[in-house]
Parts: sequence; structure tokens; C-alpha cells
Amino acid sequence: MKVVHTRDALKAGPGKVGVVMTMGALHAGHATLMREARKTCDFLIATIFVNPLQFGPNEDLAKYPRTFDADLAVCEEEGVDLVFAPSPTEMYPDQPVVTVDPGPLGTVLEGAVRPGHFAGVLTVVLKLLNMTRADVAFFGEKDYQQLTLIKQMVASFNVPVEIVGVPTVRESDGLALSSRNRYLSPEERELALALSRALRKGAAQHTADAVLATAGQELAGLDVDYLELRDPALGPAPVTGPARLLVAARLGTTRLIDNTDLELR
Ligand code: PAJ
Repeated sequence: MKVVHTRDALKAGPGKVGVVMTMGALHAGHATLMREARKTCDFLIATIFVNPLQFGPNEDLAKYPRTFDADLAVCEEEGVDLVFAPSPTEMYPDQPVVTVDPGPLGTVLEGAVRPGHFAGVLTVVLKLLNMTRADVAFFGEKDYQQLTLIKQMVASFNVPVEIVGVPTVRESDGLALSSRNRYLSPEERELALALSRALRKGAAQHTADAVLATAGQELAGLDVDYLELRDPALGPAPVTGPARLLVAARLGTTRLIDNTDLELR
């Protein structure tokens, strides 16, 4: 496995090139994306970059966990061929003059709580797609709005890449794996289970009202940013058929998100 820090050194091998983009602090969710990518790609690139552009002024950029040596061990273990770990100045030698406008979907759900977040995400993802020239890129359903916006961006700008979504990896008790889980106190870790429980119980209902009422009950007492039911492309919720239930809540200073698919009848 090769590790490079500059664009000039970023050269993929022959065949189908896959990329898994991360901000490091790698866990089994990231490893699963790499394993999925490894199945179909001849050459696998992992990127590790804590993107300042996607953090708001009051967010956790400075204290975002950085575990580079352990991250390299995960990449090695999962058969990554090349790690691209640029510095902020390598990625943004100048302040980015042109950024990607996420459009209407960038202003709801996470976008309503985190203004500018998705412009930062889409800008770095587009840059990394261009730098790696990957044929296929893998993203987790854990960040479902991010995945949906990346698909929209690629379609809108005719970016020649296939976007593959990978189901959320969870702890055995249901908590979705996240680099931010390490901030939770034991009490908060216990309370955090309400998110996945709310999604699971909500998804077992069959009408929009019942889904939201049941999930809402499980979240009582938590500081909930949103609980929303939408269609699979994150448009307005359908009356019947496939849908997506999304939740965000704060446990102390830690903000957690989760989502699930479901079927309305
Ligand atoms: P990060 O939070 O490090 O996540 C990197 C990738 O891992 C994303 O595609 C995310 O959806 C996926 N992932 C995280 N937790 C997961 C889980 N429990 N199960 C499955 N996949 C999971 O998302 C980002 O970084 C950044 O916004 C990035 C796309 C790298 C742009 O900076």
C-alpha cells in the first residue's frame, strides 16, 4: 500500500478504479465501504482528509478525532492500494473561489441545521473525484442526505463516475457506527440507542402518521433537531411505497444522525 500526500503523486493502477472518501478516525463502517469496493474494483484509493470547508464556525473541526496511524492499518487490512492524505493547503492552495451549490436539498434536514455544510461536502467530493479520476465511488447510507446530494451533483454535472451506496453498519445493539460516538459518556451512549430504536419501531408501522408518532415517542426527552419522513430521493413523503425516515438529535455536545428505509402501505 502506498501513502501519498500530494496531487502529483496520485496515480492509480490499471483497470477499474474505486475510491472511498473519509475524514479518518476509521471504524468498521469505513472498513465495510472498502470491503465492498474491493469486490468490484481493480485499484482501490482511500482518501483521508478532514475537510475544513464542511465544518461550521461552531462545529468540531479542531477536536475532530485524528488517528492517522491506526487509519493506515485499517486501509492496509482492507486491501487499499493507495491512500491519499493531503494537507489543507494541498487541497485548498487558494481559498476556493468557486464552490458547488447543493440546490434545494442542501437547505433542509442537515442543511437547515448546518448552513454551508453541503456546499463544503460537495466541493471536496467533486475535487477528490477529479483528482482520483475514480470510475466508482462508495458512500455510506449512514449519511443518506450526503449520498443523495452526491448522486444529484454527479447527475447535474455529468461527472463520469458511478456512485454506490452502502448500508449502515451498526453496533450489535443498533447504534450506527460514527466517528463521533467516542465523544459519548456511558449515560449518553445508552440514551443514544433511542435513535435506532425510534427508526426500527417507526419503520414497523404502515402509515406516515403512525411511523412519525411511534418514532417520536421513542425520542421523547431527547434534544431532537428533526424527525422526518421523505421519499427515497428525499422529496416529499409518499402516501404508499418506499420511504426514508431520518433523525438527528443532540446528546450533550454530540450530534448524532441516523436513518432507515421503510415501506408505507
Ligand atoms: P466520514 O464521516 O469519515 O465518512 C466517510 C464515509 O463513511 C461516508 O461515505 C459515510 O457515509 C461512511 N460511513 C460513516 N459511518 C458509516 C456507517 N456506520 N456505516 C456505513 N458507512 C458509514 O462523510 C464524510 O466523512 C465526509 O463528508 C466526506 C464524504 C469524506 C467528505 O469530506
